[in-house]
Amino acid sequence: MSAAKNREEALAAMFSSTCVIPVLTIDRVEDAVPLARALVAGGVRVLEVTLRTPVAAEAAKAIMAEVPEAIIGIGTILNPDDLARAEKLGARFGISPGATPDLLKAAAGSNLPFAPGIATASELMMMLAHGFKLAKFFPAEQSGGIKALRALAGPFPQVRFCPTGGIGEANAGTWLGEPNVVAVGGSWLSPTSDIRSGNWTGITAMCQRTMKMLQSR
Ligand code: 3PG
Repeated sequence: MSAAKNREEALAAMFSSTCVIPVLTIDRVEDAVPLARALVAGGVRVLEVTLRTPVAAEAAKAIMAEVPEAIIGIGTILNPDDLARAEKLGARFGISPGATPDLLKAAAGSNLPFAPGIATASELMMMLAHGFKLAKFFPAEQSGGIKALRALAGPFPQVRFCPTGGIGEANAGTWLGEPNVVAVGGSWLSPTSDIRSGNWTGITAMCQRTMKMLQSR
């Protein structure tokens, strides 16, 4: 198997092992470890730490060091520098809201399993041209929802998706019912208010409820 195919399969296996990938925005580094522990305790192990705050890299490092059960990816990768940062941190995967030629080129030359973000057929074609077949569909609900995803599945049957954006407990199961959806992403399992107040047991309970609901589909 080629290196690119190996990377892609590793990513697909990580994503389908979980169904749900919380998108984490961590403002205070001291929240990182208890937040990751709360998610893992609720049965959610694959986590996307977004590069959206000044402490994001430090937060990801702390989780990798102290919560070994968690599988940490880096999200909000916007350019080749962010991709290099994710690799250097030891992320298990990278994920982006978009797919610029520069970023796709850098990701194709890197060993990091990577999911570009797409919302249109042209972006999908660009991603395929660089050898990627698993995409973040973003922003999923706002870009036409399941109807748009089904329409894209026509010309692109080889592509698998992780829809993200506007997904929550109420519609995650419906998205996961699509044959080309390997996992869904979203921020609903890590609400800012719960992180701020340290409501870790609430986050664990919400994850347990979501996982139970998704497993009983
Ligand atoms: C992301 O960056 O993936 C989105 O902000 C997550 O979207 P959501 O907040 O609607 O879940």
